[in-house]
Amino acid sequence: MSHLTSSKPKVVICRNLGPAMPLLMDRTDLDLVVWGEDSACTRAWLLENIKGATGVLVLLQEMVDAELLDAAGPSLRVVSTMSVGTDHIDLPLMAKRNIRVGYTPDVLTEAVADLSVMLALMAGRNDGVAYSLVKSGDWPKFNWSPFTFCGPQLSTTSSSPSRTVGFLGFGRIGQATLARLIPFGITHVLYTGRSTSAPDSARDTALREKHRLAAVEHASLDRLARESDILFVLTPGGQDTYHLVDSVFLRKMKPLSVLVNTGRGTVVDADALATALREKWIWGAGIDVLEGEPRISADHPLVKEPRCVIVPHIGSATFQTRMDMATRAIDNLVAGVLGGNMPAELVA
Ligand code: DGY
Repeated sequence: MSHLTSSKPKVVICRNLGPAMPLLMDRTDLDLVVWGEDSACTRAWLLENIKGATGVLVLLQEMVDAELLDAAGPSLRVVSTMSVGTDHIDLPLMAKRNIRVGYTPDVLTEAVADLSVMLALMAGRNDGVAYSLVKSGDWPKFNWSPFTFCGPQLSTTSSSPSRTVGFLGFGRIGQATLARLIPFGITHVLYTGRSTSAPDSARDTALREKHRLAAVEHASLDRLARESDILFVLTPGGQDTYHLVDSVFLRKMKPLSVLVNTGRGTVVDADALATALREKWIWGAGIDVLEGEPRISADHPLVKEPRCVIVPHIGSATFQTRMDMATRAIDNLVAGVLGGNMPAELVA
């Protein structure tokens, strides 16, 4: 690991990747510099250690910007991120400096779809309040009554036979989420979003026929807001999607609707969502990603909302998926550093 004297390409690993580490440590063709602790590396450590590196493996917490690239110098050829999201990477700058970017699409689709459905159920069924009642020991004081803790049902019933699911972003994760919702009796699907969610009538017809749905349609934001019973926000972050879900959007939603954000925090205006919950414009929210994370305190307006279920960005947190992500990130890094084909390279 002594990169000062080595002729092997230097690669910097910003995190202890746990059970995936042997995939790196067993390599004899790389000069590895590893942040060994099970926490984010410090910026100072990264700026110091990236000097002269050919590749770097980062996570969402590491900003890959001009400062970092300047610290690395002209040797840097590859940035591999253990994430599908790339908001932390200045992609135009990467293109300008001819630096390849690897990421981890596909492997986390199923885990995030699982969590999306979990949050839709939890938010609709008052899980935040119901769970804290038990945890705080107050169950014995709870006066059961026929409609306490009731919420909107995700599945259809004979008395309530139609359900419209909206997707703000209908890429891989949106479609995997829909597949999980079919057995709930979903009847209508609306979607909109950026290029990956562009209208695709052949796919929509195939989905409609396969699942015997009444409709699968590309819709305006306005229609998505007005008609969705459950709205999944699954679009990437960035300027194009910043606060697409704002107070104007939320005011149009149905009073019994549930919003789930497992995409990116910046897409939803958190203050507007807190107002929407407090003033009962919508029923509930299930949140995995929040603008400003991880600096979210107990005073955050959404944390204080009883009908908001929040988890700390754990969409991909299963043993299987994290191992797959780490493996993909390592494979991208190694292939890129050695000048080969990266299994998942982001092409600008
Ligand atoms: C990603 O990889 O971008 C996800 O947000 C992690 O869960």
